[in-house]
Amino acid sequence: MHRSLVLYFFLLICLEVIKGKPLQQDRCCLKDSAKTPVALSPRKPKNMAFIIGAQKSGTTFLFDELVKRHPHIKSREIKEPGRINDEKEAHYFNMLPLPNAERYIQAFENAANTQNTTLTFIDGTPDYMHTPSAACRIAGAFPEAKLIVLLRDPVARALSHWNMFRVFGGKKGFEEEVGDELAMMRKKGCSFELPPTLAGSISSSPSADAVELANEVQWKRDKRIPSYNACFRCTFGRCGTLKRSEEGSVSCVLDEFPLLGYVRRGLYAYQLEWWMKFFSEDQFLILNQEQMEKDPEFVIKKAITFLGQDPNLLAPPEDLDASNLISGRGSSVVKGFHKKNASGWSLPMRDKNATQVYARAIEDLYRYFAHPNQELYALLKTLKVAANGWTGEFPKEPKNKSGTEDNDEDE
Ligand SMILES: *[C@@H]1O[C@H](CO)[C@@H](O)[C@H](O)[C@H]1NC(C)=O
Ligand SMILES: *[C@@H]1O[C@H](CO)[C@@H](O)[C@H](O)[C@H]1NC(C)=O
Ligand SMILES: *[C@@H]1O[C@H](CO)[C@@H](O)[C@H](O)[C@H]1NC(C)=O
Ligand SMILES: *[C@@H]1O[C@H](CO)[C@@H](O)[C@H](O)[C@H]1NC(C)=O
Repeated sequence: MHRSLVLYFFLLICLEVIKGKPLQQDRCCLKDSAKTPVALSPRKPKNMAFIIGAQKSGTTFLFDELVKRHPHIKSREIKEPGRINDEKEAHYFNMLPLPNAERYIQAFENAANTQNTTLTFIDGTPDYMHTPSAACRIAGAFPEAKLIVLLRDPVARALSHWNMFRVFGGKKGFEEEVGDELAMMRKKGCSFELPPTLAGSISSSPSADAVELANEVQWKRDKRIPSYNACFRCTFGRCGTLKRSEEGSVSCVLDEFPLLGYVRRGLYAYQLEWWMKFFSEDQFLILNQEQMEKDPEFVIKKAITFLGQDPNLLAPPEDLDASNLISGRGSSVVKGFHKKNASGWSLPMRDKNATQVYARAIEDLYRYFAHPNQELYALLKTLKVAANGWTGEFPKEPKNKSGTEDNDEDE
């Protein structure tokens, strides 16, 4: 298509967004995507909460503890016997086309009366956080939503994520996966690194957007870095960017960024910046996964209080005995992963000495994430205490461990 024609259709989409005014400051979602059928339903849960991510940061653990141990926190209930992940991870707001809204709401109704304001309903889809479209769609449907964010050292997160796909049959090594993704991000000017690597090459997306965004947010971000949505504009899960054809039909076009996004998902500061355009800061509870590992009860109670629920109603923890951990090799691990519905499950490291084999890639990643992590801490410092459950910082280098340790791969 001719360049100017592309621009023409891009402007058409923008115009439609402005005309529809789906949300204030919305420069990502199309009119029809912000106003999801769930947004319009009077049956949608009154008190809605989300654990939006990050993947592999203990979201399943926290979700299970909240739902199983607190009488007023309800997850979806799937009628057909399913695994806990179906109840936890709805994958509604990040998908294109939109999944069935009726089914989304019905699953909550199966659990309890969605209009009962004593109850909190929770969707724990960790794919939401890194998907720009999910933020505006959730804001369209649940402007008062409470959002829990668990953050884990992005390097450990990436390795754990890679391990999960390795267990599921992934063939590529960690170094190759990360190397390919970084090369693509750099090529597109979307590696979120400081110049000169950036080299003014944010070509495909209007960089004015990034500048404008930077000016609006209280946080003093590094303005040489593009905004998350400038790079991953209107991205959807398992699909790329939204494109409109000449005939006007909307479709998803796979962009060249790898879908798994081992690196991209660790760019927490820029993802949160985007989410904070749609929700006020007191709607966020941002937690350090490391703290949850050290003092789970404290963090669970913090989350319950944040949700407006009474921490005194929390039932005592279930024993985290061996039956809660998935062990073994090959398909038994995979089966266990899909079936497990007890808190605290985790995947063993498939390649026992991966941390040694990929020591170089891991070190590179620690260097890579140093600046985004600094940006994250700076962002977190600007938040009011109430909004911010954050403590500590991520490690700056690999933990010196023998490589024999495993079972720390919480989702
Ligand atoms: C709302 O839920 C609470 C807690 O389960 C229950 O005690 C109460 O009866 C419910 N209210 C209504 C109107 O259903
Ligand atoms: C999983 O849940 C089902 C029903 O909810 C229950 O019968 C089963 O014992 C649970 N399994 C584990 C391992 O907790
Ligand atoms: C562990 O890594 C070394 C290389 O550092 C390799 O030679 C060896 O085969 C690996 N062992 C296993 C069990 O994968
Ligand atoms: C881990 O630390 C020990 C001493 O504390 C050191 O001898 C060893 O080389 C370290 N291993 C790695 C992989 O850095």
